[in-house]
Order: sequence, then C-alpha cells, then structure tokens
Amino acid sequence: MFITNDMCFRLKEKYGTPLYVYSEEILREKCRDMKNLLPNKNVRINYSAKANTNLEILKIIREEGLDVDAMSPGEIYIELMAGFKPEQIFYISNNVSAEEMKHAIDRNILVGVDSLSQLETFGQINPGGRVAVRFNPGIGAGHHEKVITAGKKTKFGVQKEFIPEVKAILQKYNLTLAGINQHIGSLFLDGKAYVDGVKSFLEIAREFPSLSFIDMGGGFGVPYRKEEKPLDLNKLGDELDKVLSDFLKEYPNKDVVFKMEPGRYIVAECGILLGTVHSVKKNYDNTYIGTDIGFNVLVRPVMYDSWHEVAIIKKGDGAGTGEETATIVGNICETGDILAKDRKLPKAQVGDMVVAFNAGAYGYAMSSNYNCRLRPAEVLIDKNGNDRLIRRRDTLESLVQNFITE
Ligand code: LLP
Repeated sequence: MFITNDMCFRLKEKYGTPLYVYSEEILREKCRDMKNLLPNKNVRINYSAKANTNLEILKIIREEGLDVDAMSPGEIYIELMAGFKPEQIFYISNNVSAEEMKHAIDRNILVGVDSLSQLETFGQINPGGRVAVRFNPGIGAGHHEKVITAGKKTKFGVQKEFIPEVKAILQKYNLTLAGINQHIGSLFLDGKAYVDGVKSFLEIAREFPSLSFIDMGGGFGVPYRKEEKPLDLNKLGDELDKVLSDFLKEYPNKDVVFKMEPGRYIVAECGILLGTVHSVKKNYDNTYIGTDIGFNVLVRPVMYDSWHEVAIIKKGDGAGTGEETATIVGNICETGDILAKDRKLPKAQVGDMVVAFNAGAYGYAMSSNYNCRLRPAEVLIDKNGNDRLIRRRDTLESLVQNFITE
C-alpha cells in the first residue's frame, strides 16, 4: 500500500469514508510503462478515459504525454477541460445519434464508427470528412464474458467480410478513412491474445493502404490477486514490435501511427478505496463485516464477480485478536452487496477500516447513487506525500438537484 495505516485513519478523519485515494507517483509510473512499450515504433498511447475520468487524474495523464479516447460527449467535455487538444481525442462511438457525432465533428474531434449504418450516418452529416472504423478481428479476450468486446458474440466492430461495403460507403460520401481501431476486450495477463488479435487486425489494415493510424485497442491487465503475475510488458513489447515490423515491410504508409488504448493498466493500481467497519455480526455460519463500501461505490465484485484484495486496518495500536473467515459487505439493500466473500482476515471490530486494492479503474467511474447513497470523495496523494481533495463527496442537495420542484 502506498500510504501507512496511520495515514488511512488521518484521511478518514479529514475526508470521511468511503474514500478513493490515488497515488500520483504510481499513476505517472504506469503512464511511462505504456509509453515505453514500443520504443522503436511510431506509437501514441490513448488513455481510455472510461476507467477513471477524474479531472486531476486526466491532467496528470496529459502531462505524461498521453492522448485519450472518449465514449461520450461527457467524456469529451471533461477531456477538453483537462486540457487535451481536440486532435488528441478519439471519439470511439457506439450506437450514437447523428447529433452526438456532430458534437464531436464540430469540435474537430475524430469520430470512430462501429457499424455500416453508423458510417452511413456519418457520411450524411459530414460528407468529405475524416472518419475511423472499428473492426472486429474475430478474436476476443477478457476477464468476464461481459467485457469481451470482439469475436462472434459481441455487438462491437465491423466484421472483415464487410470491408467491400465499408469501402463503398467511404466512396459514396467521399470520406477519408483516417484510421481503423479494434478492442478485443478487457484484462488479459498473458499477451498472446492481444498479439493474435493484432495479427488478425493487421490483415484488415492491409486492405486500406493509406491509413494514418492503426489503433490496436486496450485490455492490458493488472494482477488483482496476490498470486497473479503481472503482465510481462517486455515480452509483449518484443512480440508486438516484431509483428509490426513485419507489417511495415509491406505497408505503403511507413509513417502510420500505431495507437493503443489502455484504461485499466494506467489507473487501476494507483487507486485504493477506504471504508469503515460499522458492524460485525454472525448470521448462521457466516461472519459479516458490515462497511460503508456498498456496490454503489465499487460495483465490480457484484457485476463481474471480480476479486479485489482487501485488508482490515485495526484501530488504535492495531492489536490483533486472531484471524477468521469473514465476508465484507456494504450498506445497500441487496443480498448481493458483497465486496469480498469468505476471506481470511484479522478479526474486525467496529471502527476498524477496510481497504480495497486496485480500485483506481472502473471504481468511481462506475459508482452510482443507488439507494440514494452519496458517491464518495476522491483524494490524490501527490509526489511529496501530501493529500489533496480532487472530488467532493456528493451531498443530499446534489441528489435532488435535477428534480423539478416548482
Ligand atoms: N478501448 C475500448 C474501445 C474499450 O471499450 C475499452 C474498455 C478500452 C479501450 C479500455 O480497456 P482496458 O484497457 O481498461 O481493459 N468495467 C469493466 C471493464 C470494461 C471495459 C470496457 N471497455 C471492469 O471493471 O472490469
């Protein structure tokens, strides 16, 4: 953990819990890992902002020299606010209205479309424009079927059999295909699926000889379990480098830029989530540690059966009273509201703290106001170890701000 146990209690005193806490140092380190993945190639890293759109996090990522992708006008809005230039933003749209496409086009942001029909829509509203098309290389990967975004069982991408139709629509509206993109899925710890996906994707790229960029997608995993090995970036970099070198031997545009879109890899490990133990009880054979980390705060365990390592931090001098197997639950009115099931943990007491690790990606970003709970606050620990509030906790007023009361 990048902060001490004492510091956890100090942050709790100062800001309350549940609280997301991020390390600037780790965030910067992860950005650099990705930037160094393919030193000999013309590469741009597009941070996939859906993983964490906190303004201050985005600013740091921009300072580190990364670009960004966007999934919605909302993400575009925050990214521009964080200082990204329109040409640094790639709007990867999926089933959007013509108005949404226009929103990006009007701001000189490149739009990627995800189907023939959306390519038609783009052509109609922006004839003669630049566009990108997302393909589905037929190979998917990911930690859960819900996040495998290529292959035969997903809504994403255009399959390669439709390349003639893509070409026909491009021609019909005099569009320039600036680039093609793919994303095979989220969280692999063995680079093989990514490399295979890239190989298959480059077959598609060959069909379009004057692309400015080829965006190979994200999905780079982090070890959520202690026993998991981190992704071997050196090996992945070497393998990819070779595949891309072979491709470039025959590809006419030697200046083509290769893009990657890591989300999780950049932000997961820089974030922890702090909570407070409010009750400890036995129900039949189970011990439940009741906390303020409901699934409105961190939904991943409930949504994907995801594992987050957790720790109990004892109040006071930390004197332990042994270990027990317990289930950490939240304060939401559903039985499924489980953060960590049947874990061997120090015996917890009211007032202890709980930490969930690797919470920086898809944590706050997927939080909600379910049960009219307030979304948590976020704090950044800067390079000098100082803490700074980077998002206020919701308030009761913010819960009702959209009601019409007149
Ligand atoms: N590019 C595209 C087009 C994507 O759809 C995604 C993620 C990424 C890049 C970044 O993927 P990453 O590098 O973060 O794996 N909520 C899930 C993950 C959903 C990912 C959706 N797409 C989770 O908490 O595991």
